[in-house]
Amino acid sequence: MKDNDLNFHNSIFELEETALERKALFDKVNSFSEEFLESLPERKAFHYNTHQTTDSDSFFSINNEKNSIENVLDFFKERVLDTGLNPTSGGHLGYIPGGGIFSSAIADYLAAITNRYAGEFYASPGAVRMGDALVNWAGKLMGYTEGFGGNLTSGGSIANLIALHTAKHHKNITGSTITKSVVYCTAQSHHSINKALKIIGLEDCIIRVIALDAQFRISVKALEDQVRVDEQDGFTPFLLIANAGSTDVGAVDPLVSLANIAKTHKMWFHVDGAYGAFFMLTEKGREKLKGIELADSIILDPHKGMFLPYGSGIVLVKNVKHLAAAHSYTANYMRDAYIEGQYSPSNLSPELSKHFRGLRMWLPLKLYGQQVFTDYLNEKLQLTTYLAQKLVEIGYKVICEPELSVVAFRLELKQYSNDEQNKKVLDFIQKDGRIFISSTVLNNKLTLRAAILSFRTHKKDIDLFLELLKEAKLSLEV
Ligand SMILES: Cc1ncc(COP(=O)(O)O)c(C=O)c1O
Repeated sequence: MKDNDLNFHNSIFELEETALERKALFDKVNSFSEEFLESLPERKAFHYNTHQTTDSDSFFSINNEKNSIENVLDFFKERVLDTGLNPTSGGHLGYIPGGGIFSSAIADYLAAITNRYAGEFYASPGAVRMGDALVNWAGKLMGYTEGFGGNLTSGGSIANLIALHTAKHHKNITGSTITKSVVYCTAQSHHSINKALKIIGLEDCIIRVIALDAQFRISVKALEDQVRVDEQDGFTPFLLIANAGSTDVGAVDPLVSLANIAKTHKMWFHVDGAYGAFFMLTEKGREKLKGIELADSIILDPHKGMFLPYGSGIVLVKNVKHLAAAHSYTANYMRDAYIEGQYSPSNLSPELSKHFRGLRMWLPLKLYGQQVFTDYLNEKLQLTTYLAQKLVEIGYKVICEPELSVVAFRLELKQYSNDEQNKKVLDFIQKDGRIFISSTVLNNKLTLRAAILSFRTHKKDIDLFLELLKEAKLSLEV
């Protein structure tokens, strides 16, 4: 090919904006963000009945049209921000909130602008050191000492997947042994555990769902009995899964007892702390989560307990060699990147290229330090106790004493069935929209739950919630 055969289209420079163009774009997005953040106190936590499509939804589709940033932002506001759930609201008490702190968003911007390759130490020693420092910090916080390792993931589900795959690999559960291998969990285990078991080919294991006590924690006696029976029957107990804060009610399993049982029966002991593990930053949390350091693997979600925007989980494995053995691969084209004695994130997870996700957690910690997170989490614990007390005062039944920051409760008026009245309360709250809660089923009964974990949730939000619950109850009593 000759030079003058080359015929490039003019648009090939369009994706490289000039400094002026960048500033114009950035200023508009920045004003939009500021407007959004400033409007949060008036914004709803939930936009009821906004799931239907509208004519303007054709704008979601991609074609060759060019649009102004103003048009795009208008559409984004109307068809994304003003629909469904608003996880940035302090009124969000559904599922497990977190909020999404601003400094983390800024870090994401920097991460994307600089686009460091966080999967390989060779490509970005700095990004990897940053990620390692966070894994190290989180591991020490859990009480791990030496030889542990981990990975920054996109969330708790992938963190669970990595941990359980490591357990499977380390315990050498393969084709011929799968149907005789036993996994122990409870009805309070998060469904991402079952999903992970399915993905890693352990669906056909024997999965024992062990009975719960009145606080929705695993019954140690029922577990011990089941393990004994399974061993007598020639099965191999290999994996024990515990909750360090269940999603439904925040239940924390008796971790020390479970660790002992796991050790006696040579099981891998996995602790799901996606919701609860960051309470290790608080005194009450450390008391509740005693024994977490005995786990072979732990997961935790900074997009919950550290209030980061969605997209941040952590998996920790007590012996990093087990994590590496389960995930390391080599490829000819990657030969330059291998450094003897140095793990890269790609050796410790399914990902190769990955988001530079360390920065979104590292920057807030560097700017504000660790203590402020402790203070916020303590506030959430206090608000939870306050809410549970007030709920009883206004005539609701609290189902179990909250261990961390989730309150499960029901209305129990005589004239209605349980599910009917609690569905009505749920609808009342969701239609109002200033507060959002979600429901679950406990002991076959529809149950309401409030999870207090957004950094923006303060006493005024809980008081508003209580007012709404009073009104909902009153509307049913007439
Ligand atoms: C206890 C628990 N484990 C795992 C998960 C899954 O985490 P993610 O939604 O980050 O994938 C959740 C999510 O709420 C959870 O509460």
